[in-house]
Amino acid sequence: MSTPERQPASSETVRKHKEFLFPAVANYYQEPLALVKGEGFHVWDDQGDKYLDCFGGVLTVSVGHANPRVNEAITNQINSITHTSTLYANKPQSDLAENLAQITPGRLKKSFFTNSGTEADDTAVHAAKLATGRHEIVVLRHSYSGRSATSLSAQGHAPWRTLPSQVAGFVHAPAPYCYRCPFKLTYPDCGLACADDIEELIMTTTTGEIAAFMAEPILGVGGFIVPPPGYFERAVEITRKHGGLFIADEVQTAWGRTGEKWFGIENWKVEPDIITSAKGLGNGVPIGITIATPEVADKFPGLTFSTFGGNPLACTAALAVLKVIEDDNLRQNSAVVGGYFRDQLEGLKDKYPVIGDVRGMGLMQAMELVKDRDTKEPDPQSVLRIMEETKKHRVLVGKGGLYGNVIRTGMMLNSTKDHVDELIEALDQSFAAV
Ligand SMILES: Cc1ncc(COP(=O)(O)O)c(C=O)c1O
Repeated sequence: MSTPERQPASSETVRKHKEFLFPAVANYYQEPLALVKGEGFHVWDDQGDKYLDCFGGVLTVSVGHANPRVNEAITNQINSITHTSTLYANKPQSDLAENLAQITPGRLKKSFFTNSGTEADDTAVHAAKLATGRHEIVVLRHSYSGRSATSLSAQGHAPWRTLPSQVAGFVHAPAPYCYRCPFKLTYPDCGLACADDIEELIMTTTTGEIAAFMAEPILGVGGFIVPPPGYFERAVEITRKHGGLFIADEVQTAWGRTGEKWFGIENWKVEPDIITSAKGLGNGVPIGITIATPEVADKFPGLTFSTFGGNPLACTAALAVLKVIEDDNLRQNSAVVGGYFRDQLEGLKDKYPVIGDVRGMGLMQAMELVKDRDTKEPDPQSVLRIMEETKKHRVLVGKGGLYGNVIRTGMMLNSTKDHVDELIEALDQSFAAV
């Protein structure tokens, strides 16, 4: 592919974006980027500048922009049939459902396809309520589930909750956020107080019997908060004691992102009754999945319908993505390159006191910035400045966290140590500059 031509004036696309889109559709950077091309690990803007993409459109471009094997499969499918609706069976949907049943942990078997993580989570909540006959769901503070009424009520961030909760029945447990422990304790002396608190939460704020506990294995939008060892084992035990199912929201953590395992939850010894995912499965093609045990899926009474759910194009892309991950050992690559990356980030932490915490798994790594390592006062201003600097070095990273003080990365699963070196060099120079 040729390099896009540099446009002399500032971006016309950005100007129209500002004029014609909801202002809530906010862009990164003081001078937002309009991207016109993606190839492999790089993207180009409409000014002709090339960037190393270390965020992948929020952990969504998993196997590289315009991956030739994924694109070839999509192109062949476009030339066969692009839409059927779920009123008719289609081969990519059936094959993908079978493939997911094979790679998901435990007894997960039956899939429902949608177009986004929001819909995947909504479907899971709906399914858990129908399967248990109960209506209350335990979720985590600092979690994110999307932008429907249900998802907005479930998530745990004031900045994303622009209306009060519209759907009743969600109760929010303290996050397993060791760096800012809600109980001011330290692992392992804490005895997993945050997990134990779920019992108190259920007994004091619900009817005592719940439909489900829904949690991200690593809280993504929350700033890649990694629960401590033993957390999910305890939390799920309490959930089951009170009649609930366990829903693992793997919208960010699936497909090898955390290294070695297909799913982030496999890093703990628990079996979800439902897994939801989206993002990286389609490598940029919209897809959402809710996969459940037969007992749960079979209790979801008809009718239900999603026009584009199970779309042959999206399912073809997903099948090709899974094949690339498998053929190229990308789950292993995520662990190896992610481990190398983590070491380099720890090196930056030794050098720059503004980095309070480095955390994540595999190729899902983040840094939490603080004004003072003792008070841990969040430093969102430095995140913005670092992002402007890394942009000058032609590297893209993301941000997150309740306070906007976390730099998040989501490098492609096929990234190499050279890409890590390039990112670390840009970060090093950026931290030095601010
Ligand atoms: C953990 C998690 N769940 C659900 C969602 C919602 O997904 P979508 O934006 O595709 O609706 C997101 C989006 O970032 C997410 O990170």
